[in-house]
Amino acid sequence: MFTKEIEKIFPNTTKVIPNKDLEIGGCSLVELANTYGTPLYVFDESTVRERCKTFIEEFRSRYPETHVAYASKAFINQKLTSILSEEGMGMDVVSLGEFIAAKQGGMDTSKIHLHGNNKSPEELEYVISNNIGRIIIDNFDEIENLSNIIKSKNCSIKALIRISPGVDPHTHSYISTGILDSKFGFAIETGDAEKAIKQCLEIDGLDLVGIHCHIGSQIFEIEPYNDAMDISVNFAVNMANNYNFILSEISIGGGFAIAYTQNENPPSVKEYAEIITNALKNACASNNIELPKLIIEPGRAIAGPSGVAIYRVGSIKDIPNIRKYVSVDGGMGDNIRPALYESEYEAVVLNKIDQENTEIVTIAGKYCESGDILIKDINLPHIEKDDLICIPASGAYCIPMSSNYNMNLKPAVILVQDGKSEIIRKRETYDDILSLEVF
Ligand code: LLP
Repeated sequence: MFTKEIEKIFPNTTKVIPNKDLEIGGCSLVELANTYGTPLYVFDESTVRERCKTFIEEFRSRYPETHVAYASKAFINQKLTSILSEEGMGMDVVSLGEFIAAKQGGMDTSKIHLHGNNKSPEELEYVISNNIGRIIIDNFDEIENLSNIIKSKNCSIKALIRISPGVDPHTHSYISTGILDSKFGFAIETGDAEKAIKQCLEIDGLDLVGIHCHIGSQIFEIEPYNDAMDISVNFAVNMANNYNFILSEISIGGGFAIAYTQNENPPSVKEYAEIITNALKNACASNNIELPKLIIEPGRAIAGPSGVAIYRVGSIKDIPNIRKYVSVDGGMGDNIRPALYESEYEAVVLNKIDQENTEIVTIAGKYCESGDILIKDINLPHIEKDDLICIPASGAYCIPMSSNYNMNLKPAVILVQDGKSEIIRKRETYDDILSLEVF
């Protein structure tokens, strides 16, 4: 049943069509499922735009020199990129593939930042020759690769170094990155961060403009941001005192949490903005340095609440007194998050939208894995074959982490706005997935 509590995790334009289904962006979800097939991912253009505006406004009203770079790993698509670009966003990418998609989607390459703990020399050369805005240097091998490229191409780049501040954000261990035992970045604690700064400053053509840290993802506490900012600025000030380094830019990464279930209450963008900008202003004031440009990299908080997934129910297996499995036509191939992180989701039955929830069921995917469960034990109206299940907060880290396991096809993605729908990613065909095989 669609309640007030569940409404808050759906896209902004979601409305109930009584006795019938839900509407997003003025489009009936049942109709979209019938027209485009299932599984189907639907993104609401207004929510995407509103989320971008909120981040830009909440940060810039407190700290005018803020660059908001969408972390494209959350969901990258050329049409989406064009919308983000119109909203004045920059982008962070972690591979050549994301860079090319961002560029083709019309993102100004000078507003793109490249991350990654193992960027290949080819990736580095390509983005440098395409005027990438910033490279976030992650490790010593990368410094060497960059130095070689700068010498051989006689070019220059602007870069930040990624430090690991040793702050635990208390999130799932798979998405915690700012602690000492992490594959990402240079730890301050071991002296590596200082060594990296020294090495970078010795390379002509490498303009080290600042430092970056990203402590993790889906962070519900705001205090770790305060600590990470404080540690980063203090470290930068030490480096400025000892070497010829000027802190012109500081990036605090992403990690802003969203609600996946009605019981979750993540901090608002305003609260994140308040703690981050205050921490930066205070650290700069107490060290008596000029305010650097601030960079933030929200991914999930832009894409996540903007998208929903729709599945059709196929088989139902009731094991008396144990569990009722309701199998849908997607699963871990399009959303690996429950299997990988034990992530929890909510669901509604579109064609029974105002019926009472009367039974506890487990929504299973169609993949050949017992762990392919999308939602364990959820209370829903009585479910029958062909019912349409809609899972909100599915816009981030579902499609980008999707696979063709069991040779299943990746879903289509639709964008809705003002009663109109358009395909922004076609459903795969068997020809598509077989076309790369040589036989
Ligand atoms: N910046 C950097 C350097 C990152 O590594 C990430 C995410 C972000 C920004 C964006 O973080 P966000 O605002 O989206 O939390 N697959 C996982 C999430 C992995 C995040 C990896 N890095 C999940 O499905 O929860």
